[in-house]
Amino acid sequence: MEIVINDTPEIASILASDIVEHALTAVEGLVLGLATGSTPLAMYRELIRRHVESGLSFITARAFLLDEYVGLPNDHPEAYRQFIAREFTDHIDLPTNGLRSPDGAADDLAAAAQDYEQAIADAGGVDVQILGIGSDGHIGFNEPSSSLGSRTRLKTLTNKTRIDNARFFEDDIGKVPRHCMTQGIATILEARHLVLLAFGEAKARPLALAVEGPITAMIPASALQLHPHVTVLVDDAAASELSNADYYRETFEHKPRWQTF
Ligand code: F6R
Repeated sequence: MEIVINDTPEIASILASDIVEHALTAVEGLVLGLATGSTPLAMYRELIRRHVESGLSFITARAFLLDEYVGLPNDHPEAYRQFIAREFTDHIDLPTNGLRSPDGAADDLAAAAQDYEQAIADAGGVDVQILGIGSDGHIGFNEPSSSLGSRTRLKTLTNKTRIDNARFFEDDIGKVPRHCMTQGIATILEARHLVLLAFGEAKARPLALAVEGPITAMIPASALQLHPHVTVLVDDAAASELSNADYYRETFEHKPRWQTF
């Protein structure tokens, strides 16, 4: 696991964008895994900038969202499919049919979850998966106690997550759905490169538990320790509880050229 501590979220987001840009040029038909929420927004803005100003193209890429609310109509502005279109994919040249998301409004949700797993497999798996971390240690919407072997399925959101996300719903927790469909932890771990972003003090504790604590279903992000290729890009505030921070800084400072992405 490579942990890179940056002065600001903007610098970390540039490094994350470099990873995506490099993958777009290295892999024909790149499959991107996209997270929603606030954390990746600066990275999405940077990628849009590179698309507009330097012609970075997503025309042959495909993208899969990590998760979706259940109980919101597909056209609700806070449905994650709408969110990602508004914040990212409407502003680049990703083909419209190149974006897939779990169907949280399906009549048969269990079948929709299986279809989603199949769609990811049919695409050849995810090459680069962008992840945020919840204040309770979740990745995707795999809340504490999620099986580390889980696949795409329905989950119940914790009240902590609903409170955290109420800011997207006029600060009214009553409007935040209780349920979601999320890629499972085993699904996420099959992506070839995981890029975890974490910014701000509120992420310091869950981040430290995830990368330096024991692997446990109570901190779902700790499952990343099992993956052979993880890049963790954080700002100083999110790094403030890492006990090995000096080592991570020194390692990055002396990173050899051969150890690129
Ligand atoms: C969103 C997702 C979640 C968020 C996490 C952090 O698709 O999968 O795991 O990444 O809840 O959210 P923010 O970035 O809003 O703090």
